[in-house]
Amino acid sequence: MAVTRTFSIIKPDATRRNLTGAVTKMLEDAGLRVVASKRIRMTREQAEGFYAVHKERPFFGELVEFMTSGPVVVQVLEGEDAVKRNRDIMGATNPANAEPGTIRRELAESIEANSVHGSDSDENAAIEIAFFFQPDEIVG
Ligand code: TYD
Repeated sequence: MAVTRTFSIIKPDATRRNLTGAVTKMLEDAGLRVVASKRIRMTREQAEGFYAVHKERPFFGELVEFMTSGPVVVQVLEGEDAVKRNRDIMGATNPANAEPGTIRRELAESIEANSVHGSDSDENAAIEIAFFFQPDEIVG
């Protein structure tokens, strides 16, 4: 299996509860390496652009509000089959449906405040990484 990269966000519900380290430890324990990381306050424009694919969905406005409600930590993760590995440790979108031991099941508050984002394909990972990071900010 090839070593690849994915993009992760530790969302405002997790930073608010001081869970940046706890989330990162679960990612690392799942075999992912943090090769870039920065704590930012997302602007409305960034959140709307990042989630543009959801702009017709009924939850879009609240999602943008939530993602700009506090600091987030954007990260690039590297590992074997990183996209799937990260999706597996994240768990289902709704924490009520997530498997025990996953980040969302153990730490998330709700389907909106679900603690983490992770890219859903290699193609989207590349797009999302480029949305937040310059190449020289990623140190593998
Ligand atoms: P989605 O891409 O479907 O899920 P995932 O994050 O697991 O890839 O949705 C993006 C985010 O939108 C999701 O993490 C939380 C938010 N969301 C809601 O607030 N309500 C909803 O009903 C859904 C489906 C998503």
